[in-house]
Amino acid sequence: MNKPENHILVIFGASGDLTYRKLVPAVFDLFDQDLLPKQFAILGLGRTDLSDQEFRTKMKEGIILFALNKPESEQKLDEYLEKLHYFSFDTKDPDEYCLLKGKLRELDEQYKTGNNFIYYLATPPSMYSIIPEQLAKQNLNSEEDGFKRLIVEKPFGYDLKTAQTLNTKLLQDFKEEQIYRIDHYLGKETVQNLLVTRFSNGIFEPLWNRNYIHHVEITGAENIGVGNRGGYYEGSGAMRDMVQNHLLLLAGLVAMEPPALIDSTNIRNEIAKVFHSLRPIKEEEVSKYAIRGQYTASKIKGEQVKGYREEQGVDPDSRTETFVAMKLFIDNWRWAGVPFYIRSGKMLPTRVTEIVIHFKATPHHLFADNESICKNYNQLVIRIQPDEGVLMKFGMKVPGAGFNVQNVNMDFHYSDLSDTYLPSAYERLLLDCMLGDGTLYHRGDAVEAAWKFVDPILKAWQEDDSIPVHGYPAGTWGPDVSDDLIEENDITWRYPCKNLSNDGNYCEL
Ligand code: BG6
Repeated sequence: MNKPENHILVIFGASGDLTYRKLVPAVFDLFDQDLLPKQFAILGLGRTDLSDQEFRTKMKEGIILFALNKPESEQKLDEYLEKLHYFSFDTKDPDEYCLLKGKLRELDEQYKTGNNFIYYLATPPSMYSIIPEQLAKQNLNSEEDGFKRLIVEKPFGYDLKTAQTLNTKLLQDFKEEQIYRIDHYLGKETVQNLLVTRFSNGIFEPLWNRNYIHHVEITGAENIGVGNRGGYYEGSGAMRDMVQNHLLLLAGLVAMEPPALIDSTNIRNEIAKVFHSLRPIKEEEVSKYAIRGQYTASKIKGEQVKGYREEQGVDPDSRTETFVAMKLFIDNWRWAGVPFYIRSGKMLPTRVTEIVIHFKATPHHLFADNESICKNYNQLVIRIQPDEGVLMKFGMKVPGAGFNVQNVNMDFHYSDLSDTYLPSAYERLLLDCMLGDGTLYHRGDAVEAAWKFVDPILKAWQEDDSIPVHGYPAGTWGPDVSDDLIEENDITWRYPCKNLSNDGNYCEL
């Protein structure tokens, strides 16, 4: 495998949680697998005053907690930590960027990294337009003497207008090829496997269209609440936090046309085309297509849990949604008339992300008594997490007299592949950026198209108080009314369990 060129990874917001839990541990995993270049350093930037040594001690803790999969890796830890440096720095102060330039020059000379820098923006979004501009003022965006890449964390904008403004602003100082908009879902092995499942198996693609697929269901469920992120979540809600980015991305990968090549232009073109084909939902019809909910206090496994409004940093009268269920359509040749049902929420019974392709029933119900079962069989469940795998449900004759049919499972679990290492999403994405490959990062036009689709819903929810925020007890599958989105009476959402092969309303409780 090609190794990245020598470089320095510069992390803005290095005293924050993301750096501690995800970024530095993910880069350690790369180091451990010998995937980093020979000359490499991390420069952490943050307002907290820390020495290199203090930063290393804190990061060591994060690596032990969130990386270090094998005991032998521990030997490499000290060598890795030596490459970590810290510079206390006020990102808001333009005068300090020339000090940063000096620090980078010093490290570049020490490590011989050829002026190749990756800037990771792990700061609050309000800094996203300030940092790139200030870097450019110091000529730290120029690729005349080494690459300069910019990784931008989510949220990318707050709505369409702010996303457009941010894109315009970034593009003033960096070229599109230098900008890496991260969506950690694209870094998940099982999300990438969607492309392989679809485009490397001759048996699925011929059926993958409106002629054979009845509907598609995408669930992104979490069994935790907002924890200490209440302040952030209040201004976000499930639509911005999960649907606009992660779940629409999954819909894009399910619905896209086969790309001509597996490269960043072709794959990203196809995803963008799906987003452009999303049928717009008008503000006045929002209630027909989208349901919002908020978890309320409840008892789970005998333990009292808080409602959203009691969480730290949350307004006691908050109308922020912690649950969204939606019906959407993709108006193109392949998907005309096929509903996509999408659902995401906090404090649901289990943590699971999966896609279910519901195939149409046979045209003639030979086993008429089982018509309702016929309607349900042939589901392809693509499990993103946990118990990653793929499951096919099909009808089989119940042994014995008559022709009774029952659904049975055929399943593959990643865990059956012993010795297979599933890299973390950040590990994969950081390595791709180091290699200059933006395939698994979002392009600006696609991000804007996704915002354009959700904008009217967010606007209606904000402005029209008559649209209810349905309460649902923590630990349940969200408001009952989300079933009303599905027009056919005998069809409901799948209620998945932790284990891919199980389903049912109450399996986790
Ligand atoms: C993040 C959201 O983008 O994704 C979080 O901000 C959410 O609220 C998380 O918990 C879910 O990611 P994952 O990888 O655990 O499914």
